[in-house]
Amino acid sequence: MKQFKQLIEEELTIFETKFATAMRSNVPLLDRIMKYIINRKGKQIRPMFVFLSAKLHGEVTESTYRAASLVELLHTATLVHDDVVDESMERRGFFSINAIWKNKIAVLVGDYLLSKGLLLSTNHDDFEHLHILSEAVQQMSEGELLQLEKSRNLNLDESIYFEIVRNKTASLLSSACAIGAYSTSQNKDIANKMKLFGEKIGIAFQIKDDLFDYGNQKVGKPTGNDIKEKKVTLPLIYTLNRCDKSLKKRLIYILKNKNKRPEDITFVIESVQKFGGIDYAIIKMNEYKEEALSILHEFPESPIRNALEELVCYTTDRKY
Ligand code: IPE
Ligand code: IPE
Ligand code: MG
Ligand code: MG
Repeated sequence: MKQFKQLIEEELTIFETKFATAMRSNVPLLDRIMKYIINRKGKQIRPMFVFLSAKLHGEVTESTYRAASLVELLHTATLVHDDVVDESMERRGFFSINAIWKNKIAVLVGDYLLSKGLLLSTNHDDFEHLHILSEAVQQMSEGELLQLEKSRNLNLDESIYFEIVRNKTASLLSSACAIGAYSTSQNKDIANKMKLFGEKIGIAFQIKDDLFDYGNQKVGKPTGNDIKEKKVTLPLIYTLNRCDKSLKKRLIYILKNKNKRPEDITFVIESVQKFGGIDYAIIKMNEYKEEALSILHEFPESPIRNALEELVCYTTDRKY
């Protein structure tokens, strides 16, 4: 077992049961889909950040468990919707919800998961959780929309990429760290610092995810899909801004073409590799990781802080 998991092993076991309970439905179809999702759980990196951030500042409470469930419910909801938006048929090594039940059901399932999260909080008057997380959900939608808008006209500015990533991914990870810390400290200054810590991790996390798209490892979801979907991420942005005019023209031609052949995708990937787009993205990812670690180091050293540090390293070293 990974070291960072050892210190929260008990919490994660209890969490799994609570999370499954929070997803239950009396509608047979929904319940079937909920079981399908639970059986193919993800890395649960966000709940891990909730628990470790909580334990860094005090004793885990029932409110911490609800925070972890809320974050993972919202995350799951966005994945279900994201696969509809990205027309992606694979998730966590299996068929995505839209691949099996089609888009209409996937949209409703995403809404159902979101509502389950909201109810979990309102039923317990967790207004601070709701406040932090509602902002994150708003940002995630804004980020995904901004991405769609930019991919239409292939806007290739690095600063826009970071804006998208901060909104669509870092917002939830930063909320996970903030509500975890708040649940045990009740201290807004601490929560805000943990929020910033989470934001840096979130950006590094998405750069890593975008790098997977350029690899050929099995990561439980399709690779090359971002290129197929005209999603211009950091490795490609770097390449397009540095390569010669004729290559840029060819790359853009491929991206715009709706029916890309496998060899077109390979050409894009190889060009990006050749122009150092991958190396550049790795450097940027590590910069954000280091920023996260330096914020973390403002808190005194402890076994929990060390575990958090390992979890940060895991977000950038992970294999899927
Ligand atoms: C995938 O998140 C979506 C992104 C924000 C890149 P994860 O990689 O955490 O997905 P699971 O939950 O482990 O499947
Ligand atoms: C993550 O972006 C989007 C969300 C915040 C849900 P991606 O579209 O890259 O995520 P994956 O690769 O499908 O998991
Ligand atoms: Mg996607
Ligand atoms: Mg991705």
